[in-house]
Amino acid sequence: MTTTTTNSVTVPGPASPYQADIANYWNAEARPVNLRLGDVDGLYHHHYGIGAVDHSALGAPGDPDAEQKLIAELHRLESAQTDVLLDNLGEIAREDFLVDAGCGRGGSMVMAHQRFGCTVNGVTLSSKQAEFGNQRARELGLQDHVRSHVHNMLDTPFDTGQAAGSWNNESSMYVDLDDLMAEHSRILRPGGRYVTITGCWNPRYGQPSKWVSQINAHFECNIHSRREYLKAMADNRLVPQAVIDLTPDTLPYWELRATSSLVTGIEEAFINSYKDGSFQYVLIAADRV
Ligand SMILES: C[S@@+](CC[C@H](N)C(=O)[O-])C[C@H]1O[C@@H](n2cnc3c(N)ncnc32)[C@H](O)[C@@H]1O
Repeated sequence: MTTTTTNSVTVPGPASPYQADIANYWNAEARPVNLRLGDVDGLYHHHYGIGAVDHSALGAPGDPDAEQKLIAELHRLESAQTDVLLDNLGEIAREDFLVDAGCGRGGSMVMAHQRFGCTVNGVTLSSKQAEFGNQRARELGLQDHVRSHVHNMLDTPFDTGQAAGSWNNESSMYVDLDDLMAEHSRILRPGGRYVTITGCWNPRYGQPSKWVSQINAHFECNIHSRREYLKAMADNRLVPQAVIDLTPDTLPYWELRATSSLVTGIEEAFINSYKDGSFQYVLIAADRV
């Protein structure tokens, strides 16, 4: 592993060639579906949305602002997803410390600080994302409370027992789940809460479907099964407190997105796999015991 020193902060290099590929992927990533949605209110997400579409907020056919209205509605659903994640963190005080593992451009961290008033630190493999997140935090005057680090989430720079809460928001499909849960278990204080929102393949289907394989290839990731999540948590002192199937809540987002000019080509795989039951969008909240 190589290390770089910037402003006295030591940034570890990717721990594997795969992690280097993922860092490159996210350094190069500038899809309109992410950036134009973030431009709506300055909260930049790299995750999907949940909740019912508000059709009254969409433009009628021929409305010159229809595209912008659709973008704003997709963005509202993505922020609603983060709200549900934060709802499941339990009681968080201003003095508490939260960790966003795989923080992207930092939208979830800003929302967590705005809700709880606490300090939130995140890690991402992408230096571009960390710079972007730290720049946004400075623009919002939140740099003392919201900070992104270029770091591997399997080996974070945080102290043992430091965090009251931690989460993965669509970032756990890039790592070994046992290693990931071991690291969350290390940084969480006893009684702390871990939350993940993730796509997972459904053990009831049998094996990953062709749609799941297509999603893996598209994002260079490795979608785990629901069973693997629960096992890795159980093996690492993380006891599920809630398992919520968000699949019916995310389908409207995908069906709306598929009608937009921002399509990326992967919409069909998500919609078909959610409908055939091979893929699920779940929230799992677990207590560190
Ligand atoms: C789909 S994005 C999700 C970003 C963010 N959680 C959100 O909701 O907007 C996946 C993120 O996981 C990060 N990631 C993947 N593997 C990682 C690792 N081993 N350590 C740290 N971050 C990682 C990527 O750098 C990227 O920021």
